Amino acid sequence: MNLERLFSRRTKVMRPSEIRELLKLTQQPDIISFAGGLPNPDAFPIDEIQDITRRVLEEKGKLALQYGPTEGIRSLRETLANRCRKDGMDASSDNVLITTGSQQGLDVIGRIFLDPGDTIIVELPTYLGAINAFRAYEVNFEGIPLDKDGMRIDLLEDKIEDLKKKGITPKFIYVVPTFQNPAGVVMPESRRRKLVDIANEHDLLIIEDDPYGKLIYEGDFVRPIKSFDDEGRVIYLSTFSKILSPGFRLAWIVADEEIIRKLSIGKQALDLCSNTFAQYIANEFIESGYLDLHIMRIIEMYRPKRDRMMESIKKYFPEDTICHKPRGGMFAWVTLPGDIDTEEMFLDAIKEKVAYIHGKAFHVDGGGASSMRLNFSYSSEELIEEGIKRLGKVIERKLKEAK
Ligand SMILES: Cc1ncc(COP(=O)(O)O)c(C=O)c1O
Repeated sequence: MNLERLFSRRTKVMRPSEIRELLKLTQQPDIISFAGGLPNPDAFPIDEIQDITRRVLEEKGKLALQYGPTEGIRSLRETLANRCRKDGMDASSDNVLITTGSQQGLDVIGRIFLDPGDTIIVELPTYLGAINAFRAYEVNFEGIPLDKDGMRIDLLEDKIEDLKKKGITPKFIYVVPTFQNPAGVVMPESRRRKLVDIANEHDLLIIEDDPYGKLIYEGDFVRPIKSFDDEGRVIYLSTFSKILSPGFRLAWIVADEEIIRKLSIGKQALDLCSNTFAQYIANEFIESGYLDLHIMRIIEMYRPKRDRMMESIKKYFPEDTICHKPRGGMFAWVTLPGDIDTEEMFLDAIKEKVAYIHGKAFHVDGGGASSMRLNFSYSSEELIEEGIKRLGKVIERKLKEAK
């Protein structure tokens, strides 16, 4: 059988997620892994979920175990719309679509908006799962570098003008504006407003992906880009994965009603509906007031981990390492001195029983060779220090070899 002939063109451009492949290597029990984007399992609210599950089964069992609407159960859509309004968005339950993780949301957005050969704009670096989701729709990526305030809006404007000269109008700009994955930075309000102005001027959509916005260790909450959107151009995504449990596989999209209707048709073909049982539990978890308490608990758990990682980087990494302290989220982004290639260094690190994700994985332009993403939510503080110490040794060796 000639499978190559049988596979679709789309399948041929798909690549396995590098993170998932690397995670296989990091799953040996004695490896200290900064590689995944895993929440800390000690934070999972097991007792509360147990109580709520019993209650949901007693009171709504016949609904919770049945298929549900593709858009999601009405009560959860309403609850989420209320929360979004508190964050400044103009949203009703009709603007909310429940998805099976934000990863599905990204894929459905690709299905609905992207044709082969379309151009989309992403950050450099950006979330690898989004690159993989959009790549399957055979698009061209254009990257815009970040600085400490997120996407460089000045370069974005230049890029859009350049593309225009070539007769290209991008479909959308994909951004993770708050505690960015992987770079940890936050786009301030002024840039958010400017981004919306640019989208309005050039008739583009903005895909705002916000899994980390509530994990704030210090500083103020910055309103979502969606809250500055008065033309319905921003498609906002958030998820229960980092604030409740990734095992629930539940997330939500907030968008213009017409967009929600189209996305819902796209989703129908994927899974008919997201997990109804989990939706009832998640709704009850929010309505009982547990979610906000739980978010506070996670913040208290992750902040000292972030601090320990920053202190350890200062102590064990070369002096001219660049790493800005993220004030929220789950990741530190590190750029090493010299010409160290973090992809090449990965196997040396694994030999020392420590893992990370190399910077190139997050770049659509092949950049990021001397950077790496380090997750601080998963490991204990002791293991964070030990892992950074081991990485420091590997880096020191590499720098000596290069001389
Ligand atoms: C920026 C970003 N978007 C989307 C996702 C996918 O989240 P979910 O678990 O909801 O599919 C992640 C997960 O790490 C992420 O970091």
